[in-house]
Amino acid sequence: MANGQAAQDFHSYANPSAVRVRHLDLNWDVLFEQKILKGTAVLTVERISQAEPLILDTRDLKIEKVETSADGVAYSAATFTVGSSDKILGAPLTIPLPAKANRVRIYYSTVPGASGLQWLEPAQTAGKKDPFVFTQSQAIHARSWIPTQDTPQVRVTYNARVRTPRRLLAVMSAENLSGTARDGDYSFRMRQPIPSYLIALAVGDLRFKALSARTGVYAEPPVIDLAAKELSDTEKMVVATERLYGPYRWGRYDILVLPPSFPYGGMENPRLTFATPTILAGDKSLVSLVAHELAHSWSGNLVTNATWRDFWLNEGFTTYLERRILEAVYGRPREEMEAALGLRDLNEEITALEDPDEILHIDLKGRDPDDGSTDIPYEKGALFLRHLEETFGRARFDQFLKGYFNHFAFQSITTEQFTAYLKQNLLDKDPALAARVPVDDWINKPGIPASAPKPASSAFARVEEEGKRWLRGEIPAAKILTARWTTQEWLHFLKSLEVSAGSGAARMAELDQAFHLTRSGNSEIAFQWLLMAIRNRYEPANPRLEEFLTTIGRRKFIKPLYEELAKTPEGKERALAIYRRARSTYHPIAVASIDDVLNWSGQ
Ligand code: BES
Ligand code: ZN
Repeated sequence: MANGQAAQDFHSYANPSAVRVRHLDLNWDVLFEQKILKGTAVLTVERISQAEPLILDTRDLKIEKVETSADGVAYSAATFTVGSSDKILGAPLTIPLPAKANRVRIYYSTVPGASGLQWLEPAQTAGKKDPFVFTQSQAIHARSWIPTQDTPQVRVTYNARVRTPRRLLAVMSAENLSGTARDGDYSFRMRQPIPSYLIALAVGDLRFKALSARTGVYAEPPVIDLAAKELSDTEKMVVATERLYGPYRWGRYDILVLPPSFPYGGMENPRLTFATPTILAGDKSLVSLVAHELAHSWSGNLVTNATWRDFWLNEGFTTYLERRILEAVYGRPREEMEAALGLRDLNEEITALEDPDEILHIDLKGRDPDDGSTDIPYEKGALFLRHLEETFGRARFDQFLKGYFNHFAFQSITTEQFTAYLKQNLLDKDPALAARVPVDDWINKPGIPASAPKPASSAFARVEEEGKRWLRGEIPAAKILTARWTTQEWLHFLKSLEVSAGSGAARMAELDQAFHLTRSGNSEIAFQWLLMAIRNRYEPANPRLEEFLTTIGRRKFIKPLYEELAKTPEGKERALAIYRRARSTYHPIAVASIDDVLNWSGQ
């Protein structure tokens, strides 16, 4: 939100309309032995209402002492209280401020199980020699490693100094001020104001390879060459996005390829996207993830959701932009396939969700904001924008979006602010066209409006035809014309078989023999195949399933696989046997989800 105003954020204890954090100076030692960050955070605050204390969000932080000062001159000891801890929100840290005080220095350390950090043993890395640590702050995990106002409507600039073992390199979502020296002492600066969920750090044996003058990739030594090859279209994507939506405003755009326990596909940390290594398919077929995280540099990082109920402003816009980037770089047929896959996922999700959870402007009060991370904000949000695009025409809609990013640049906005802007700058300019888009239904009602676009792909229609010929017994699996199929066509083929009930263990065996799907090195195809293997009790895939679940920690893959296993008593036994071994290698965020799926209580 703009200065002073505040939207109600149910996921933060902070009081930014009274006291607002503006800048952070962070200073840590990264202690791998103890699995903690230890150091200080100096907060520069703006006092809007003089009598109020500063209220910060924390989760499991060990606060040693707090000091305050005016302009950083002569700090003096301050009192503070840590309130009682809520399972979802953590605990408020309240610091009364003397008159004129505008700096607060907090001495603290994290705990080894901090929800926003994952500490990896050398065995969990590609290099196997050095430990690794990385952060994941979205949605409300920044508070587990930084005591700050952990709400997306508070934006801060930051400086950081990070000391690590000498062999290791630290990277952050910020400008690196330490040049190329690898001496275990690194400095960073983020000059643009960003929300706390975009503050990020990773430390490990990392190498860098430039992709263009302003883009590059970081990864562990065994992965760096493959990563650089796979991601070599990154500059083209930046250029395409700039053409559509205006200049990239963050300086560099680098990608950090993490070890496989990274719980997400990607995370749009500014200047430095964090990515799962499972996108390295060898044929660039999964780089839509880069288009997505890059798009967040406009939708999300530049114009940010003010609260987590406005999450669709981040993810719906980004999913729409992602497909526009793919179309610009790889052509319309690719965009059509991705959109059609997205629509299928959306329809499936809608059959599973309760009505209130199908609303873009979702009510998340009292819930974990990660519960709102369904296909609704992503795919329904994107479909809504596509509806606007198709109704008003590309030229007008592109101009509108570019204007929107400029108008709200470096601000955090609510859904209401978006709809007011939409009305004024698009709908009211052409009431006849506006009448065709039921904006209120899109934003405040469950389901999908009947007038919604129906993305379809002609390539997929051909895939379905091939599949039917095989199912009718007209051709053997080996004769299905798969030679030129892309990953997206394979995914569509496999998903369509499920719908037509055309799988079954025998069918799966035939496909496996012809196409070696159990051995597929493409993570998306392997995931879809393994899901079908569980459903159809296709046992030859069991070892691969076990390997997949014990080496990959990406929640989007492992959660549905555990859920599918848990549907039968034998499956649940197998799931528990695997989870017993894998649990300690998963990220705390993934552990929380899988514990739920398997009703884990330490068996
Ligand atoms: N910002 C999200 C990841 C996220 C969302 C983290 C909510 C924590 C809470 C990121 O941009 C994202 O959407 N990642 C997707 C990949 C994308 C291609 C759809 C993912 O990780 O699967
Ligand atoms: Zn996203």
